[in-house]
Amino acid sequence: MATPENKLAFDGGWEYAPAPESTDHISIKKRYELFIDGEFVKPESGKYFETINPATEERLSRVAEASAADVDKAVKAARTAYAKVWSKMKPAERGKYIYRIARIMQERAREFATIESLDGGKPIRESRDIDIPLAAAHFFYYAGWADKLEYAFPGRRPKPLGVAGQIIPWNFPLLMAAWKIAPALACGNTVVIKPAETTPLTAMKLAEVIADAGLPPGVVNIVTGAGKTGADIVQHPGIDKIAFTGSTEVGRIIQKALAGTRKSYTLELGGKAANIIFADAALDQAVEGIVNGIFFNQGHVCCAGSRLLVQESVADEVIRRLKDRMATLRVGNPLDKNTDIGAINSRQQLETIQKYLKIGKEEGAEVYQSAARLPKKGFFCKPTLFTGVSQSNRVVQEEIFGPVLAVQTFRTFNEAIAKANNTPYGLSGGVWTDKGAKIFKMTQDIRAGVIWANTFNKFDPTSPFGGYKESGVGREGGLHGLDAYLRLEA
Ligand code: NAI
Ligand code: MG
Repeated sequence: MATPENKLAFDGGWEYAPAPESTDHISIKKRYELFIDGEFVKPESGKYFETINPATEERLSRVAEASAADVDKAVKAARTAYAKVWSKMKPAERGKYIYRIARIMQERAREFATIESLDGGKPIRESRDIDIPLAAAHFFYYAGWADKLEYAFPGRRPKPLGVAGQIIPWNFPLLMAAWKIAPALACGNTVVIKPAETTPLTAMKLAEVIADAGLPPGVVNIVTGAGKTGADIVQHPGIDKIAFTGSTEVGRIIQKALAGTRKSYTLELGGKAANIIFADAALDQAVEGIVNGIFFNQGHVCCAGSRLLVQESVADEVIRRLKDRMATLRVGNPLDKNTDIGAINSRQQLETIQKYLKIGKEEGAEVYQSAARLPKKGFFCKPTLFTGVSQSNRVVQEEIFGPVLAVQTFRTFNEAIAKANNTPYGLSGGVWTDKGAKIFKMTQDIRAGVIWANTFNKFDPTSPFGGYKESGVGREGGLHGLDAYLRLEA
Protein backbone atom coordinates (compact mmCIF):
# COMPACT_ATOMS: atom_id res chain seq x y z
CA MET A 1 0.00 0.00 0.00
CA ALA A 2 1.28 3.53 -0.68
CA THR A 3 1.92 4.51 2.91
CA PRO A 4 2.84 8.15 3.60
CA GLU A 5 6.44 7.00 4.20
CA ASN A 6 7.05 5.25 0.94
CA LYS A 7 5.14 7.93 -0.93
CA LEU A 8 7.61 10.47 0.45
CA ALA A 9 10.56 8.31 -0.53
CA PHE A 10 8.96 8.01 -3.93
CA ASP A 11 8.70 11.77 -4.30
CA GLY A 12 12.19 12.34 -3.02
CA GLY A 13 10.82 14.05 0.10
CA TRP A 14 13.38 12.41 2.36
CA GLU A 15 16.33 10.17 1.93
CA TYR A 16 18.35 7.78 4.03
CA ALA A 17 21.70 9.25 5.09
CA PRO A 18 24.49 7.62 3.09
CA ALA A 19 26.03 4.64 4.92
CA PRO A 20 28.95 3.60 2.74
CA GLU A 21 31.33 0.80 3.68
CA SER A 22 34.80 2.32 3.90
CA THR A 23 37.52 1.30 1.48
CA ASP A 24 40.49 2.32 3.63
CA HIS A 25 40.92 -1.24 4.94
CA ILE A 26 41.46 -2.86 1.57
CA SER A 27 44.35 -2.91 -0.82
CA ILE A 28 44.01 -3.41 -4.55
CA LYS A 29 47.23 -3.61 -6.53
CA LYS A 30 47.63 -1.69 -9.77
CA ARG A 31 48.33 -4.95 -11.53
CA TYR A 32 47.75 -8.66 -10.90
CA GLU A 33 49.79 -11.51 -12.33
CA LEU A 34 48.81 -15.14 -12.85
CA PHE A 35 49.02 -17.51 -9.88
CA ILE A 36 50.85 -20.58 -11.15
CA ASP A 37 52.83 -23.18 -9.19
CA GLY A 38 52.54 -21.14 -6.00
CA GLU A 39 53.94 -17.95 -7.50
CA PHE A 40 52.65 -14.79 -9.09
CA VAL A 41 54.01 -14.86 -12.63
CA LYS A 42 53.77 -12.53 -15.62
CA PRO A 43 51.76 -13.71 -18.63
CA GLU A 44 53.89 -14.95 -21.54
CA SER A 45 52.21 -12.50 -23.91
CA GLY A 46 52.82 -9.53 -21.61
CA LYS A 47 49.14 -8.63 -22.07
CA TYR A 48 46.87 -7.27 -19.34
CA PHE A 49 43.20 -6.25 -19.32
CA GLU A 50 41.27 -3.82 -17.16
CA THR A 51 38.73 -4.59 -14.53
CA ILE A 52 36.45 -1.70 -13.70
CA ASN A 53 33.99 -0.78 -10.98
CA PRO A 54 30.64 -1.03 -12.80
CA ALA A 55 29.08 1.53 -10.43
CA THR A 56 31.53 4.27 -11.44
CA GLU A 57 33.10 2.94 -14.66
CA GLU A 58 36.50 3.63 -13.11
CA ARG A 59 39.42 1.28 -13.50
CA LEU A 60 40.25 -0.73 -10.38
CA SER A 61 43.22 -2.70 -11.62
CA ARG A 62 44.84 -4.44 -14.58
CA VAL A 63 44.92 -8.19 -14.70
CA ALA A 64 47.07 -10.64 -16.66
CA GLU A 65 45.60 -12.26 -19.75
CA ALA A 66 46.59 -15.91 -19.83
CA SER A 67 47.43 -17.39 -23.23
CA ALA A 68 47.44 -21.07 -24.21
CA ALA A 69 51.10 -21.20 -23.12
CA ASP A 70 50.22 -19.91 -19.64
CA VAL A 71 47.33 -22.36 -19.34
CA ASP A 72 49.73 -25.13 -20.33
CA LYS A 73 52.15 -24.04 -17.59
CA ALA A 74 49.31 -24.03 -15.05
CA VAL A 75 48.05 -27.48 -16.08
CA LYS A 76 51.59 -28.91 -15.88
CA ALA A 77 52.07 -27.42 -12.41
CA ALA A 78 48.73 -28.89 -11.34
CA ARG A 79 49.66 -32.30 -12.77
CA THR A 80 53.01 -32.38 -10.94
CA ALA A 81 51.41 -31.24 -7.68
CA TYR A 82 48.73 -33.89 -8.12
CA ALA A 83 51.09 -36.77 -8.82
CA LYS A 84 53.86 -35.91 -6.39
CA VAL A 85 52.13 -34.23 -3.44
CA TRP A 86 48.39 -33.79 -3.20
CA SER A 87 47.07 -37.23 -4.17
CA LYS A 88 49.75 -38.85 -1.97
CA MET A 89 49.07 -36.71 1.08
CA LYS A 90 47.12 -38.18 4.00
CA PRO A 91 43.52 -37.04 3.58
CA ALA A 92 43.44 -35.55 7.10
CA GLU A 93 46.41 -33.36 6.14
CA ARG A 94 44.61 -32.16 3.02
CA GLY A 95 41.69 -31.29 5.26
CA LYS A 96 43.92 -29.10 7.44
CA TYR A 97 44.97 -26.98 4.47
CA ILE A 98 41.35 -26.49 3.41
CA TYR A 99 40.37 -25.48 6.97
CA ARG A 100 43.19 -22.98 6.92
CA ILE A 101 41.83 -21.37 3.74
CA ALA A 102 38.39 -21.14 5.38
CA ARG A 103 39.73 -19.50 8.52
CA ILE A 104 41.90 -16.94 6.73
CA MET A 105 38.95 -16.10 4.49
CA GLN A 106 36.79 -15.50 7.56
CA GLU A 107 39.44 -13.29 9.11
CA ARG A 108 39.62 -11.24 5.93
CA ALA A 109 35.88 -11.33 5.25
CA ARG A 110 35.38 -7.57 5.33
CA GLU A 111 38.12 -7.00 2.78
CA PHE A 112 36.72 -9.73 0.51
CA ALA A 113 33.19 -8.33 0.75
CA THR A 114 34.27 -4.79 -0.10
CA ILE A 115 36.34 -5.87 -3.09
CA GLU A 116 33.54 -8.15 -4.33
CA SER A 117 31.13 -5.20 -4.34
CA LEU A 118 33.65 -2.84 -5.95
CA ASP A 119 34.60 -5.19 -8.76
CA GLY A 120 31.20 -6.73 -9.53
CA GLY A 121 28.62 -4.12 -8.46
CA LYS A 122 26.64 -6.21 -5.99
CA PRO A 123 25.33 -4.54 -2.83
CA ILE A 124 27.69 -4.77 0.14
CA ARG A 125 24.82 -6.22 2.17
CA GLU A 126 24.79 -9.24 -0.13
CA SER A 127 28.54 -9.74 -0.39
CA ARG A 128 29.00 -9.19 3.37
CA ASP A 129 26.09 -11.36 4.56
CA ILE A 130 25.83 -13.97 1.83
CA ASP A 131 28.70 -14.37 -0.63
CA ILE A 132 31.71 -14.29 1.68
CA PRO A 133 30.29 -16.23 4.68
CA LEU A 134 28.95 -18.89 2.32
CA ALA A 135 32.29 -19.13 0.51
CA ALA A 136 34.05 -19.76 3.84
CA ALA A 137 31.29 -22.21 4.82
CA HIS A 138 31.99 -24.27 1.69
CA PHE A 139 35.68 -24.56 2.56
CA PHE A 140 34.77 -25.56 6.12
CA TYR A 141 32.22 -28.11 4.95
CA TYR A 142 34.44 -29.83 2.39
CA ALA A 143 37.48 -29.71 4.68
CA GLY A 144 35.45 -31.96 6.97
CA TRP A 145 34.90 -34.53 4.21
CA ALA A 146 38.56 -34.82 3.17
CA ASP A 147 39.30 -37.75 5.51
CA LYS A 148 35.81 -39.27 5.47
CA LEU A 149 35.29 -40.04 1.80
CA GLU A 150 34.90 -43.81 2.37
CA TYR A 151 32.03 -43.03 4.71
CA ALA A 152 30.41 -40.86 2.06
CA PHE A 153 30.44 -43.79 -0.38
CA PRO A 154 30.31 -46.98 1.68
CA GLY A 155 31.71 -50.09 0.03
CA ARG A 156 33.43 -48.10 -2.73
CA ARG A 157 37.00 -46.87 -2.97
CA PRO A 158 36.89 -43.16 -3.85
CA LYS A 159 39.76 -42.00 -6.07
CA PRO A 160 40.48 -38.44 -7.25
CA LEU A 161 40.11 -37.63 -10.95
CA GLY A 162 43.35 -35.68 -11.34
CA VAL A 163 43.50 -32.10 -12.62
CA ALA A 164 40.24 -30.14 -12.63
CA GLY A 165 39.75 -27.19 -15.01
CA GLN A 166 37.21 -24.78 -13.59
CA ILE A 167 35.56 -21.79 -15.28
CA ILE A 168 33.34 -19.49 -13.28
CA PRO A 169 31.06 -16.50 -13.88
CA TRP A 170 30.82 -12.98 -12.52
CA ASN A 171 27.63 -13.11 -10.47
CA PHE A 172 29.08 -14.82 -7.36
CA PRO A 173 32.82 -14.61 -8.02
CA LEU A 174 34.29 -15.80 -4.73
CA LEU A 175 31.41 -18.11 -3.89
CA MET A 176 31.65 -19.88 -7.25
CA ALA A 177 35.41 -20.26 -6.73
CA ALA A 178 34.70 -21.85 -3.33
CA TRP A 179 32.00 -24.15 -4.77
CA LYS A 180 34.51 -25.43 -7.27
CA ILE A 181 37.84 -25.44 -5.43
CA ALA A 182 36.76 -26.80 -2.02
CA PRO A 183 35.29 -30.17 -3.12
CA ALA A 184 38.02 -30.66 -5.75
CA LEU A 185 40.75 -30.31 -3.12
CA ALA A 186 38.94 -32.37 -0.50
CA CYS A 187 38.76 -35.25 -2.98
CA GLY A 188 42.48 -35.03 -3.75
CA ASN A 189 42.37 -33.25 -7.11
CA THR A 190 44.42 -30.22 -8.10
CA VAL A 191 42.94 -27.21 -9.85
CA VAL A 192 43.34 -24.71 -12.67
CA ILE A 193 40.60 -22.12 -12.26
CA LYS A 194 39.61 -19.09 -14.33
CA PRO A 195 37.51 -16.29 -12.85
CA ALA A 196 35.28 -14.17 -15.10
CA GLU A 197 36.96 -11.27 -16.86
CA THR A 198 34.81 -8.58 -15.19
CA THR A 199 35.34 -9.89 -11.64
CA PRO A 200 38.85 -11.28 -11.20
CA LEU A 201 39.87 -9.42 -8.03
CA THR A 202 38.54 -11.64 -5.23
CA ALA A 203 40.05 -14.63 -7.04
CA MET A 204 43.43 -12.88 -6.89
CA LYS A 205 42.84 -12.19 -3.18
CA LEU A 206 42.03 -15.87 -2.82
CA ALA A 207 45.39 -16.62 -4.45
CA GLU A 208 47.00 -14.59 -1.65
CA VAL A 209 45.04 -16.58 0.95
CA ILE A 210 46.08 -19.87 -0.66
CA ALA A 211 49.72 -18.77 -0.58
CA ASP A 212 49.34 -17.64 3.07
CA ALA A 213 47.75 -20.97 3.95
CA GLY A 214 50.95 -22.63 2.71
CA LEU A 215 49.31 -24.92 0.17
CA PRO A 216 51.91 -26.89 -1.76
CA PRO A 217 52.77 -25.09 -5.04
CA GLY A 218 50.62 -26.08 -8.02
CA VAL A 219 47.65 -27.44 -6.03
CA VAL A 220 45.57 -24.39 -6.95
CA ASN A 221 46.46 -22.32 -10.03
CA ILE A 222 44.48 -19.21 -10.90
CA VAL A 223 44.62 -17.94 -14.47
CA THR A 224 42.81 -14.80 -15.54
CA GLY A 225 41.47 -14.04 -19.00
CA ALA A 226 38.29 -14.04 -21.06
CA GLY A 227 36.52 -16.68 -23.16
CA LYS A 228 39.65 -17.64 -25.11
CA THR A 229 41.47 -18.53 -21.89
CA GLY A 230 38.44 -20.58 -20.81
CA ALA A 231 38.47 -22.43 -24.13
CA ASP A 232 42.21 -23.10 -23.72
CA ILE A 233 41.47 -24.79 -20.39
CA VAL A 234 38.61 -26.84 -21.86
CA GLN A 235 40.76 -28.03 -24.74
CA HIS A 236 43.94 -28.80 -22.81
CA PRO A 237 44.67 -32.54 -23.02
CA GLY A 238 46.09 -32.58 -19.49
CA ILE A 239 42.73 -31.77 -17.90
CA ASP A 240 40.68 -34.63 -16.43
CA LYS A 241 37.50 -32.82 -15.50
CA ILE A 242 35.80 -29.55 -16.45
CA ALA A 243 33.48 -27.71 -14.09
CA PHE A 244 31.71 -24.74 -15.66
CA THR A 245 29.14 -22.23 -14.45
CA GLY A 246 27.85 -19.63 -16.89
CA SER A 247 25.62 -19.18 -19.90
CA THR A 248 23.80 -22.03 -21.62
CA GLU A 249 25.37 -20.84 -24.86
CA VAL A 250 28.94 -21.35 -23.64
CA GLY A 251 27.87 -24.54 -21.85
CA ARG A 252 26.87 -25.95 -25.24
CA ILE A 253 30.20 -24.98 -26.79
CA ILE A 254 32.01 -26.72 -23.94
CA GLN A 255 29.86 -29.84 -24.16
CA LYS A 256 30.62 -30.08 -27.88
CA ALA A 257 34.34 -29.60 -27.28
CA LEU A 258 34.33 -32.38 -24.68
CA ALA A 259 32.22 -34.87 -26.64
CA GLY A 260 34.26 -37.98 -27.34
CA THR A 261 37.06 -37.07 -24.95
CA ARG A 262 37.80 -38.88 -21.69
CA LYS A 263 37.16 -35.70 -19.67
CA SER A 264 34.24 -35.69 -17.29
CA TYR A 265 32.26 -32.52 -16.73
CA THR A 266 29.63 -30.67 -14.74
CA LEU A 267 27.80 -27.70 -16.24
CA GLU A 268 25.71 -25.27 -14.24
CA LEU A 269 23.88 -23.06 -16.70
CA GLY A 270 20.93 -20.71 -16.92
CA GLY A 271 17.48 -20.70 -15.39
CA LYS A 272 14.01 -19.18 -15.62
CA ALA A 273 12.56 -20.09 -12.24
CA ALA A 274 8.91 -19.63 -11.36
CA ASN A 275 7.91 -18.26 -7.99
CA ILE A 276 4.42 -19.70 -7.51
CA ILE A 277 2.06 -17.90 -5.14
CA PHE A 278 -1.14 -19.67 -4.09
CA ALA A 279 -4.10 -17.75 -2.72
CA ASP A 280 -3.59 -19.34 0.71
CA ALA A 281 -0.01 -18.05 1.04
CA ALA A 282 1.12 -15.44 3.56
CA LEU A 283 1.09 -12.69 0.96
CA ASP A 284 3.43 -10.17 2.55
CA GLN A 285 6.05 -12.86 3.06
CA ALA A 286 5.53 -14.02 -0.50
CA VAL A 287 6.03 -10.46 -1.80
CA GLU A 288 9.27 -10.25 0.18
CA GLY A 289 10.31 -13.58 -1.35
CA ILE A 290 9.58 -12.33 -4.86
CA VAL A 291 11.66 -9.21 -4.22
CA ASN A 292 14.50 -11.29 -2.78
CA GLY A 293 14.23 -13.73 -5.67
CA ILE A 294 14.59 -11.27 -8.54
CA PHE A 295 15.45 -7.73 -7.45
CA PHE A 296 18.15 -8.09 -4.82
CA ASN A 297 21.45 -8.77 -6.50
CA GLN A 298 20.20 -7.12 -9.72
CA GLY A 299 18.67 -10.42 -10.82
CA HIS A 300 22.20 -11.67 -11.52
CA VAL A 301 21.35 -15.09 -10.15
CA CYS A 302 21.03 -18.23 -12.25
CA CYS A 303 18.32 -19.54 -9.90
CA ALA A 304 16.56 -16.13 -9.70
CA GLY A 305 12.77 -16.18 -9.45
CA SER A 306 12.44 -14.38 -12.77
CA ARG A 307 8.86 -15.52 -13.34
CA LEU A 308 5.97 -14.89 -10.99
CA LEU A 309 3.00 -17.25 -11.21
CA VAL A 310 0.24 -15.94 -9.00
CA GLN A 311 -3.17 -17.49 -8.40
CA GLU A 312 -5.81 -15.40 -10.15
CA SER A 313 -7.94 -14.68 -7.07
CA VAL A 314 -5.05 -12.85 -5.34
CA ALA A 315 -3.20 -11.58 -8.40
CA ASP A 316 -4.35 -7.95 -8.20
CA GLU A 317 -3.59 -7.82 -4.50
CA VAL A 318 -0.12 -9.36 -4.86
CA ILE A 319 0.81 -7.09 -7.76
CA ARG A 320 -0.38 -4.04 -5.82
CA ARG A 321 1.69 -4.99 -2.77
CA LEU A 322 4.66 -5.82 -4.99
CA LYS A 323 4.55 -2.40 -6.67
CA ASP A 324 4.42 -0.75 -3.24
CA ARG A 325 7.45 -2.73 -2.12
CA MET A 326 9.27 -1.91 -5.35
CA ALA A 327 8.78 1.78 -4.64
CA THR A 328 10.93 1.41 -1.52
CA LEU A 329 13.82 -0.44 -3.21
CA ARG A 330 16.99 1.59 -3.28
CA VAL A 331 19.06 1.38 -6.44
CA GLY A 332 22.57 2.81 -6.32
CA ASN A 333 26.00 2.71 -4.73
CA PRO A 334 26.83 -0.96 -4.08
CA LEU A 335 29.02 0.03 -1.12
CA ASP A 336 26.10 1.71 0.67
CA LYS A 337 24.72 -0.58 3.37
CA ASN A 338 21.16 0.52 2.56
CA THR A 339 21.37 -0.32 -1.13
CA ASP A 340 19.04 -3.09 -2.35
CA ILE A 341 19.96 -3.15 -6.02
CA GLY A 342 23.53 -2.36 -6.97
CA ALA A 343 25.16 -1.95 -10.36
CA ILE A 344 24.61 -4.23 -13.32
CA ASN A 345 27.86 -6.13 -13.72
CA SER A 346 28.92 -4.77 -17.10
CA ARG A 347 27.85 -2.52 -19.94
CA GLN A 348 27.34 -5.64 -22.02
CA GLN A 349 24.96 -7.15 -19.46
CA LEU A 350 23.07 -3.84 -19.16
CA GLU A 351 22.64 -3.84 -22.94
CA THR A 352 21.32 -7.40 -22.80
CA ILE A 353 18.74 -6.37 -20.20
CA GLN A 354 17.76 -3.29 -22.18
CA LYS A 355 17.35 -5.44 -25.28
CA TYR A 356 14.87 -7.60 -23.36
CA LEU A 357 12.98 -4.53 -22.08
CA LYS A 358 12.47 -3.61 -25.72
CA ILE A 359 11.50 -7.15 -26.71
CA GLY A 360 8.94 -7.27 -23.89
CA LYS A 361 7.30 -4.07 -25.13
CA GLU A 362 7.28 -5.31 -28.71
CA GLU A 363 5.64 -8.52 -27.56
CA GLY A 364 2.85 -6.44 -26.07
CA ALA A 365 3.71 -6.72 -22.39
CA GLU A 366 2.76 -3.97 -20.02
CA VAL A 367 5.88 -2.57 -18.41
CA TYR A 368 6.05 -1.17 -14.90
CA GLN A 369 9.22 0.27 -13.40
CA SER A 370 9.78 1.72 -9.97
CA ALA A 371 10.42 5.45 -9.81
CA ALA A 372 13.93 4.92 -8.40
CA ARG A 373 16.39 7.55 -9.54
CA LEU A 374 19.48 6.03 -11.07
CA PRO A 375 23.01 7.35 -10.58
CA LYS A 376 24.31 9.28 -13.59
CA LYS A 377 27.45 7.19 -14.02
CA GLY A 378 27.73 3.44 -13.98
CA PHE A 379 25.44 0.64 -15.15
CA PHE A 380 22.07 0.59 -13.42
CA CYS A 381 18.59 -0.70 -14.10
CA LYS A 382 15.29 0.00 -12.37
CA PRO A 383 13.35 -2.94 -10.96
CA THR A 384 10.88 -3.87 -13.67
CA LEU A 385 7.65 -5.88 -14.03
CA PHE A 386 6.20 -7.29 -17.21
CA THR A 387 2.49 -8.04 -16.94
CA GLY A 388 0.09 -9.22 -19.62
CA VAL A 389 2.62 -11.70 -20.99
CA SER A 390 1.92 -15.11 -22.43
CA GLN A 391 3.81 -18.36 -22.09
CA SER A 392 5.38 -18.18 -25.55
CA ASN A 393 6.79 -14.66 -25.07
CA ARG A 394 10.56 -14.45 -25.15
CA VAL A 395 10.60 -12.57 -21.84
CA VAL A 396 8.86 -15.61 -20.29
CA GLN A 397 11.08 -18.20 -21.96
CA GLU A 398 14.56 -16.67 -21.99
CA GLU A 399 16.99 -15.81 -19.22
CA ILE A 400 17.35 -12.03 -18.87
CA PHE A 401 19.70 -11.96 -15.87
CA GLY A 402 18.53 -8.57 -14.65
CA PRO A 403 16.01 -7.12 -12.16
CA VAL A 404 13.13 -7.94 -14.49
CA LEU A 405 10.12 -10.04 -13.48
CA ALA A 406 7.55 -11.57 -15.86
CA VAL A 407 4.16 -11.93 -14.17
CA GLN A 408 1.56 -14.55 -15.13
CA THR A 409 -1.54 -15.86 -13.42
CA PHE A 410 -3.02 -19.33 -12.99
CA ARG A 411 -6.28 -20.79 -11.73
CA THR A 412 -5.59 -24.42 -10.87
CA PHE A 413 -2.74 -26.38 -9.39
CA ASN A 414 -2.15 -28.23 -12.67
CA GLU A 415 -2.05 -25.02 -14.65
CA ALA A 416 0.65 -23.70 -12.30
CA ILE A 417 2.75 -26.85 -12.78
CA ALA A 418 2.32 -26.79 -16.56
CA LYS A 419 3.36 -23.14 -16.77
CA ALA A 420 6.26 -23.57 -14.34
CA ASN A 421 7.68 -26.44 -16.40
CA ASN A 422 7.14 -24.81 -19.75
CA THR A 423 10.58 -23.29 -20.44
CA PRO A 424 13.82 -24.85 -21.70
CA TYR A 425 15.25 -24.56 -18.18
CA GLY A 426 14.89 -26.45 -14.91
CA LEU A 427 17.18 -25.04 -12.25
CA SER A 428 14.99 -23.82 -9.41
CA GLY A 429 11.54 -22.77 -8.31
CA GLY A 430 9.58 -21.40 -5.39
CA VAL A 431 6.21 -22.26 -3.93
CA TRP A 432 4.25 -20.15 -1.46
CA THR A 433 1.29 -21.79 0.26
CA ASP A 434 -0.12 -22.58 3.67
CA LYS A 435 -0.60 -26.25 2.77
CA GLY A 436 2.18 -28.79 3.26
CA ALA A 437 0.55 -31.25 0.87
CA LYS A 438 0.69 -28.70 -1.95
CA ILE A 439 4.37 -28.16 -1.26
CA PHE A 440 5.12 -31.90 -1.53
CA LYS A 441 3.12 -32.26 -4.73
CA MET A 442 4.84 -29.21 -6.23
CA THR A 443 8.32 -30.44 -5.40
CA GLN A 444 7.48 -33.73 -7.14
CA ASP A 445 5.93 -32.22 -10.23
CA ILE A 446 8.23 -29.31 -10.97
CA ARG A 447 11.26 -30.37 -12.99
CA ALA A 448 13.87 -28.27 -11.23
CA GLY A 449 16.94 -29.05 -9.17
CA VAL A 450 15.92 -26.86 -6.22
CA ILE A 451 12.47 -25.90 -4.99
CA TRP A 452 12.17 -23.47 -2.12
CA ALA A 453 9.00 -23.52 -0.06
CA ASN A 454 7.85 -20.30 1.59
CA THR A 455 11.31 -18.86 1.13
CA PHE A 456 13.68 -18.24 -1.78
CA ASN A 457 17.40 -18.19 -2.67
CA LYS A 458 18.55 -19.96 0.47
CA PHE A 459 21.86 -21.80 0.25
CA ASP A 460 23.80 -24.20 2.37
CA PRO A 461 26.96 -26.16 1.59
CA THR A 462 25.26 -29.42 2.56
CA SER A 463 22.54 -29.29 -0.08
CA PRO A 464 23.10 -30.23 -3.70
CA PHE A 465 22.46 -27.71 -6.47
CA GLY A 466 22.07 -28.17 -10.21
CA GLY A 467 19.59 -28.33 -13.03
CA TYR A 468 17.51 -30.33 -15.45
CA LYS A 469 17.14 -29.75 -19.19
CA GLU A 470 19.13 -26.75 -20.47
CA SER A 471 20.06 -25.72 -16.93
CA GLY A 472 22.94 -28.12 -16.88
CA VAL A 473 24.55 -31.43 -16.10
CA GLY A 474 25.56 -32.74 -12.67
CA ARG A 475 25.26 -31.43 -9.14
CA GLU A 476 27.43 -29.29 -6.91
CA GLY A 477 27.28 -29.02 -3.13
CA GLY A 478 26.72 -31.61 -0.42
CA LEU A 479 27.60 -35.26 -0.97
CA HIS A 480 26.66 -34.98 -4.63
CA GLY A 481 29.36 -32.35 -4.99
CA LEU A 482 31.99 -34.87 -3.85
CA ASP A 483 30.81 -37.44 -6.35
CA ALA A 484 31.57 -35.01 -9.19
CA TYR A 485 35.28 -35.02 -8.25
CA LEU A 486 35.75 -38.74 -7.64
CA ARG A 487 36.02 -42.04 -9.43
CA LEU A 488 34.30 -44.66 -7.30
CA GLU A 489 36.10 -47.99 -7.58
CA ALA A 490 34.64 -51.26 -6.40
P1 NAI B 1 29.63 -16.58 -20.19
O1 NAI B 1 29.05 -17.94 -20.15
O2 NAI B 1 30.25 -16.09 -21.45
O3 NAI B 1 30.79 -16.47 -19.06
C1 NAI B 1 31.00 -17.37 -18.00
C2 NAI B 1 32.47 -17.77 -17.96
O4 NAI B 1 32.80 -18.52 -19.12
C3 NAI B 1 33.46 -16.61 -17.95
O5 NAI B 1 34.54 -16.95 -17.10
C4 NAI B 1 33.93 -16.54 -19.38
O6 NAI B 1 35.19 -15.96 -19.53
C5 NAI B 1 33.95 -17.99 -19.77
N1 NAI B 1 33.85 -18.28 -21.20
C6 NAI B 1 33.29 -17.52 -22.18
N2 NAI B 1 33.38 -18.14 -23.37
C7 NAI B 1 34.00 -19.32 -23.14
C8 NAI B 1 34.36 -20.43 -23.99
N3 NAI B 1 34.09 -20.43 -25.30
N4 NAI B 1 34.98 -21.49 -23.43
C9 NAI B 1 35.23 -21.52 -22.11
N5 NAI B 1 34.91 -20.50 -21.27
C10 NAI B 1 34.31 -19.41 -21.77
O7 NAI B 1 28.54 -15.59 -19.70
P2 NAI B 1 28.41 -14.01 -20.04
O8 NAI B 1 28.65 -13.76 -21.48
O9 NAI B 1 29.23 -13.28 -19.09
O10 NAI B 1 26.87 -13.79 -19.72
C11 NAI B 1 25.89 -14.09 -20.71
C12 NAI B 1 24.65 -14.64 -20.10
O11 NAI B 1 24.93 -15.85 -19.43
C13 NAI B 1 24.03 -13.78 -19.02
O12 NAI B 1 23.21 -12.80 -19.57
C14 NAI B 1 23.26 -14.79 -18.23
O13 NAI B 1 22.01 -15.03 -18.83
C15 NAI B 1 24.09 -16.05 -18.33
N6 NAI B 1 24.92 -16.28 -17.14
C16 NAI B 1 24.57 -17.30 -16.30
C17 NAI B 1 25.30 -17.52 -15.15
C18 NAI B 1 24.94 -18.60 -14.20
O14 NAI B 1 25.26 -18.50 -13.03
N7 NAI B 1 24.32 -19.68 -14.64
C19 NAI B 1 26.43 -16.66 -14.78
C20 NAI B 1 26.75 -15.66 -15.76
C21 NAI B 1 26.00 -15.49 -16.88
MG1 MG C 1 35.10 -5.44 -12.48
